[in-house]
Amino acid sequence: MEDLTARERFLRACRGEEVDRPPVWLMRQAGRYLPEYREIRARASFLEACADPELAVEISLQPYRRFGMDAVIVFSDILIPLTGLGVSLDFAPGPSVANPIERASDLERLAGDVAPAMEPTCEAIRRLRAELGPEVPILGFAGAPWTLAAYASEAKLSRDVERLVVSSYTEPSFLDALLDRMAEITTRTLELQIEAGADAVQIFDTWAGVLSSPRFRRFAGRALARVIEALPSGHPPVILFARAAAHLLEDLAELGADVVSVDWRVDLADAALRVGQRVSLQGNLDPAALRASPATIARAVEQLVEAGSKARGHVLNLGHGVLPTTPIDGVRAFVEAAMRARG
Ligand code: CP3
Repeated sequence: MEDLTARERFLRACRGEEVDRPPVWLMRQAGRYLPEYREIRARASFLEACADPELAVEISLQPYRRFGMDAVIVFSDILIPLTGLGVSLDFAPGPSVANPIERASDLERLAGDVAPAMEPTCEAIRRLRAELGPEVPILGFAGAPWTLAAYASEAKLSRDVERLVVSSYTEPSFLDALLDRMAEITTRTLELQIEAGADAVQIFDTWAGVLSSPRFRRFAGRALARVIEALPSGHPPVILFARAAAHLLEDLAELGADVVSVDWRVDLADAALRVGQRVSLQGNLDPAALRASPATIARAVEQLVEAGSKARGHVLNLGHGVLPTTPIDGVRAFVEAAMRARG
């Protein structure tokens, strides 16, 4: 077929329509592995960079200028919406919360609108559109209710999200109320970015994998389904990422997302068989594989493209974010091999 624009290629793969080759981008494509990112971070803290549209635009464009991926994700963080509410957040560099949400009376602190905290990100999306024109897709994103609740409910997130999982047994009605509020926050965060011009949005449920399938459906999954249902009709494609969640693949495919993003532990061809035609798939090279030689990376990309051809549609990506230790040549080899592929 004729060459598509990056935006057409991306949207068609999300919807499971024919493409010339699978679109490619990388989670955490802007970040510490890039010297030009580290240079900005020497002058501004992470939260300052997120709150400054000019810096956010510059950082979002850094990987695109080097590698020309098929999508630009706006630079921000899933926890930014919470900073505008009564959650005192710091990054050092991992997130920490000075006043975690621990009981029903703390939920009052989550009242209020996320729009002011999200305004720099929305302004960055508008400026990115002006800069990139209509042919490059711009991705917005938000944290899933369960993952936002996980970070909000402990000063420093414990292994296996202990506090939240325990509350699902000891105080399920508190957890339901917390997830309901987080679902409103996720929905509003996505709506604002869609209004600002995002072409697709990704929801990150980084911690969903700690739940068994029945408990995922009862708590995290129910909240996710509500978010996707609440988006305006005709909304842009929704990509749903969950880490270490191979046991939840069928559940994730049921929630109304267009694309399910799987990590590297899952065999992509097997995942395609399991979800059938319900959703497209995104992924899923092991981020550590970007340390391998360009030839090894290229072979891995070819295998992924072959496996992904069994899915309804395939967006080529890593299985999780780029590691700060990743060599630039590894990212380049990944993107170049993806661009040589034929769908
Ligand atoms: O993908 C992109 O390039 C867009 C920007 C983006 C960031 N974080 C920038 C960031 C996105 C989409 C996120 C999502 C995010 N943030 C998730 C979900 C994805 C995942 O990794 O599972 C989560 C759980 C967070 C919360 C968060 N933010 C953590 C746990 C950390 C510290 C650990 C780490 O990887 O550094 C952050 C900080 C963060 N977010 C950085 C960046 C570039 C590093 C900040 C720095 O410069 O020091």
